[in-house]
Amino acid sequence: MELLIKNGRIVDWSQDFNGDIYINNGKIVEIGENLDKSCSTIDAKGSIVLPSFLDLHSHFREPGFTNKEDIYSGSGAAVRGGYTMVNLMANTDPVCSDMDTINYVLDKVKEVGLIDAHQVASITNNLAGDDLTHLDKLDSKVKMISDDGRDIMNSKVMLEAMVKAGKSGRIVICHSEEHSLTSVDTRLAENTMAWRNITLAQFTGCPVHMAHVSTKETMEYIIQAKNKGHNLSCEVTPHHIALVDNDYSVNPPIRTESDVDFLIKSIKEGWVDAIATDHAPHTIEDKKRGAPGISGIETAFAVCYTSLVKKGHITLSKLSELMSRNPAYIMGVNKGQIKIGYDGDIVLVDTDKGYTICSSEFKSKGKNTPFDGASVYGRIKKTIKGGKVVFSRE
Ligand code: DOR
Repeated sequence: MELLIKNGRIVDWSQDFNGDIYINNGKIVEIGENLDKSCSTIDAKGSIVLPSFLDLHSHFREPGFTNKEDIYSGSGAAVRGGYTMVNLMANTDPVCSDMDTINYVLDKVKEVGLIDAHQVASITNNLAGDDLTHLDKLDSKVKMISDDGRDIMNSKVMLEAMVKAGKSGRIVICHSEEHSLTSVDTRLAENTMAWRNITLAQFTGCPVHMAHVSTKETMEYIIQAKNKGHNLSCEVTPHHIALVDNDYSVNPPIRTESDVDFLIKSIKEGWVDAIATDHAPHTIEDKKRGAPGISGIETAFAVCYTSLVKKGHITLSKLSELMSRNPAYIMGVNKGQIKIGYDGDIVLVDTDKGYTICSSEFKSKGKNTPFDGASVYGRIKKTIKGGKVVFSRE
């Protein structure tokens, strides 16, 4: 399949110019000006042409919680948000602790055919916090492990998990939260466990990715560890950089202005590796019962473009680095850049006309968002995967 994208403003982490992209057999094969091909052509005049986004942190809830989301609705939501790859968390039912469940998810993602995915395996068997024996039975498709949402309270178990992960070349994703402290102070709960997780990572040498960093202190611990040369990466979410002092239920909670300022300063200084959505769809009933989470994959780019690029904190190239190039690098895939030989995964966006976020239009089953009614810039017009249009707004 061939596709020519013409006359767009092409932007990725390292370039920003007007031109054309020619995709053949799923890959970018030519980039330039005035390309002439007799194949299906998209006129991208007036649009910004970016590599599509990759999400390091998504919950698609299948198997088990398909009333909140399933792979079909999650994939549809992803492409509507400009994403063509997601890293799915393991808190499903059954939990993604074995290859049967993991292969079920990956086969279903392929069958739906809109996006690519990695499935994260749980660190402890069934997220129970203790048993690690299942880790030896996972195959090489599993690149990352995490007990996201729970973390691991027993430090010896986390230490052993990091030793195992280090030996098998897997990354441990840490949701940092000391549960015995959550009811005392959520910030203390995050900071305490972030420090522990980083300390264990330094002790074991295991590659660790710190999920949804929300406090200034956690970011400071990460900066200290990176300064010492440790193999550590981290993500922030759109909601933790766009909202302040908001009590919408999400875990970790929305923090204060000084936290947000520090996270943005850390983005600018290059300490933050990625922006990940923590897309966590819930039903209206579950949300009323206090379930934490934001259905965020359809609004992530616009929220970030509006609060980071439009406000002049960072360039669009830097945003592309955080949403495409670096997550692709962390996931070890040939995506996230507009470069010959890379996957032809592209997104066309309109950054000129503002629009209002309307959760009832979401493809996700989860309409839970604090951004409903917000005025933003950065609407996704088309999402292309391997040269095939998988989402088009018209
Ligand atoms: O807000 C959240 N929701 N944070 C998490 O860590 C888990 C997630 C979920 O699964 O709903």
